[in-house]
Amino acid sequence: MKVFEPFKINQMELKNSMVVSAMVTNYCSEDGMATEKFIAYHEHKAKGGWGLIITEDYAVTPTAGGFKKLPGLWEDGQIESHKELTRRIHEAGGKIAAQIYHAGRETSSAITGEQPIGPSALKDPTMPETPREMTVEEIHELVEQFGDCARRAKEAGFDAVEVHGAHGYLIGAFASPFSNKRSDEYGGTIRNRARFAMEIIENIKEKCGKDYPVLYRMSAVEYVPGGLEIEESKILARLVEEAGADCIHCSQGVYASTYVIIPPSVVPRAAYVENAAEIKKVVDIPVIAVGRINDVEIAESVLQADKADLVTMARASLIKETN
Ligand SMILES: Cc1cc2nc3c(=O)[nH]c(=O)nc-3n(C[C@H](O)[C@H](O)[C@H](O)COP(=O)(O)O)c2cc1C
Repeated sequence: MKVFEPFKINQMELKNSMVVSAMVTNYCSEDGMATEKFIAYHEHKAKGGWGLIITEDYAVTPTAGGFKKLPGLWEDGQIESHKELTRRIHEAGGKIAAQIYHAGRETSSAITGEQPIGPSALKDPTMPETPREMTVEEIHELVEQFGDCARRAKEAGFDAVEVHGAHGYLIGAFASPFSNKRSDEYGGTIRNRARFAMEIIENIKEKCGKDYPVLYRMSAVEYVPGGLEIEESKILARLVEEAGADCIHCSQGVYASTYVIIPPSVVPRAAYVENAAEIKKVVDIPVIAVGRINDVEIAESVLQADKADLVTMARASLIKETN
């Protein structure tokens, strides 16, 4: 079966095409360290044989998170605890990528202790606070912080990083006309809205080297009025490929359409796979499909139909409590 065939993303060799995507566990400590519970949770998956495990979103700064107990790699002192995670995954024969992110306007001061930030001072419909519009200087600083976070991930032994450009978090918010109303070089046309993502990918490649695999997760369709649609997302995908991304992980939705990010059981299997297929038509790098691909036969069918190169299972990878 195709799903069980090895696959290569840049220099990263996967033993099969089955990917576990990011799922917040809140198992880390409040200062972003990997706990034994967090490590054991991922270790069980690695022992189960998944080709690639993508962690939940690592905060790139102390105030980047949307939850209290997320992992973090915003300073060098955090590297050691995450090294133990990657060591155990590798010992179990697995590969692991760190998803790295900034929540942007999809968090609150109750979590971070400060007013959320965004491309524009525009409140997310699901969140209590209006974010502060970032200055160009702050954008440049955050680009560096993403690059530094990826460098730490590499030092901690992660096989790759996944830049979280989906679900309306900061990078996705810049890319989307739903949340970005800027009139400078970071707003307006899709090339301008993609600039933040592109600069982040370029910065990561500068700091980690061209061979270090960078996945880019995007919401190809946001399913909100005025949000990203597939034609613009095809351009966005090509732009992030141009910037150096090695793989596109094609998700969907923002907080205002959470039902498509984590589709309930009334949604048909593999319901969003056509979005991945559209993206795949315009890029040369591999594309991952996600969303209720929760059965190996469905996964195989997606790959056989050439709709995607790899498949993700998030909830279908869940195992019972490890301690
Ligand atoms: C509890 C939970 C937490 C999630 N956390 C993240 C996350 O941190 N980052 C992310 O990109 N997606 C996150 N997701 C979305 C999943 O990665 C995935 O895209 C979604 O669950 C659909 O895939 P599935 O139908 O295979 O579960 C989360 C999903 C769940 C159920």
